[in-house]
Amino acid sequence: MKPEHLQPCACNGVIFGITGDLARRKLLGALYHLDKDQLLHADTRFLGLAHGALSLDDFRNLILNSLVQFVGGNLDQTVLRRLMQRFSYRSLEFADAQAYAALCDWFTEKPQPTLFYFATSAAVFGSICAGLAAAQLIAADSQVIMEKPIGDNLRSSQGVNDTVGSYFSERQIYRIDHYLGKETVLNLLVLRFANALFTSNWDYTCIDHVQITVAESVGIEDRWAFYDKAGQMRDMVQNHLLQILCLLAMEPPADLDAESIRSEKLKVLKALRPITRENLARNVVRGQYTEGFIKGKPVPGYHDEAGANRGSATETFVAIKAEIDNWRWSGVPFYLRTGKRLAVKHSEINIHFKAQPHNIFHDSYPVLPANKLTIRLQPDEGIELQMMNKVPGITEIGRIAKNRLDLSFSESFNTARIVDAYERLLFEAMQRNQSWFVSRDEVEQAWRWVDRILELWQENGEKPDTYPAGSWGPISSIALIARDEREWDG
Ligand code: BG6
Repeated sequence: MKPEHLQPCACNGVIFGITGDLARRKLLGALYHLDKDQLLHADTRFLGLAHGALSLDDFRNLILNSLVQFVGGNLDQTVLRRLMQRFSYRSLEFADAQAYAALCDWFTEKPQPTLFYFATSAAVFGSICAGLAAAQLIAADSQVIMEKPIGDNLRSSQGVNDTVGSYFSERQIYRIDHYLGKETVLNLLVLRFANALFTSNWDYTCIDHVQITVAESVGIEDRWAFYDKAGQMRDMVQNHLLQILCLLAMEPPADLDAESIRSEKLKVLKALRPITRENLARNVVRGQYTEGFIKGKPVPGYHDEAGANRGSATETFVAIKAEIDNWRWSGVPFYLRTGKRLAVKHSEINIHFKAQPHNIFHDSYPVLPANKLTIRLQPDEGIELQMMNKVPGITEIGRIAKNRLDLSFSESFNTARIVDAYERLLFEAMQRNQSWFVSRDEVEQAWRWVDRILELWQENGEKPDTYPAGSWGPISSIALIARDEREWDG
């Protein structure tokens, strides 16, 4: 018997954009795994909505092909049959408010709370809400999940939030940042607040600086037009990197409830020191990849990708020295770095502790290395602590060496599979837990900080620094940290 909070709640799940990339790549696989793990209530059912007319057979083929492509060929046939039976498909012109009335029979067949998933561009969120309202399909117990990007600056994100907020209350809205569903990101809370060792050493007195790297080896794939309007700042920094920074820097929340966690994260965002015209060049680097090699294979530059506009100055790499103006983090820089077409897919956090004030082991190390805590977000999820130890042996009195305490999640927990972020977040939404979703205030505060940088870039009109695909970003990003006599962990 599962504990009560793990007993799945029944719902009518309605996915707008079921034939789109997100639904096919992530949502269907997540639902398959939830069903397999008995985390979908027997009465839970789904309605997939998209523009095109599809027969039930075509739709089932789409589900099957997506699962084979993104989950793998070895599917459990019983689970697959069960999942297929939960699904219906209807074609819908999202902008046609009158068309939504035709969906009503699906809802009345089995009245239960509805979870809407807007897996579409934010541009149609307003029309969808209007259509649902016109057909009286929004009830007090309905919920809505919204995908990022929510706007492309503060003003447009306020527009999206106002529009959706005029149909759903904040309590009903679940804004996804899928990094908050990753095991290793959630583990940051456990690491910090379940281990006295870190709780008490987690501030400016013990920590020298923090590095957050989210590196991807993929390029733009086939979404050049979308990506070129966004760039790495909007695509990754405004959301994923700032959320990681919040979890690392926030004060202990009173509880794990949504209000406690979100209000602590918001305080961090509010304390971020603004980037100004004067400090932009020192603190922010933007880059764009040129042709190069990834894993030995030649890859095109950003300007030569399919559909590219050769004059584009959109950044595919960002490095930032961020500072948090509060008591805990005074004088502790947080270096953030993220980019496409970097050498490997590799995301990690490095917490560099301060060096010992006096070195009595100078025979081994003229400069004693400081402790470093590495949190590997992906791949090979785990935690590593760099420590100094005595070299064994009678004659080795003063000799010490740098070793690592290495805790790999897959080895320690013997987990064959790390749960995908969407799986957890869909489950949490069905359980009506908003803790791992982003509040309106957080989204807007993050935009305030990021907007300033984007405006300054716009104002100075400079082109991004280039870097060859397969490298670790432009030279200027090395200079950004080297100016502080530090270097990126590699
Ligand atoms: C998405 C971005 O939010 O996150 C993509 O839009 C990026 O550009 C992706 O590739 C990275 O997610 P993950 O889970 O693969 O690190």
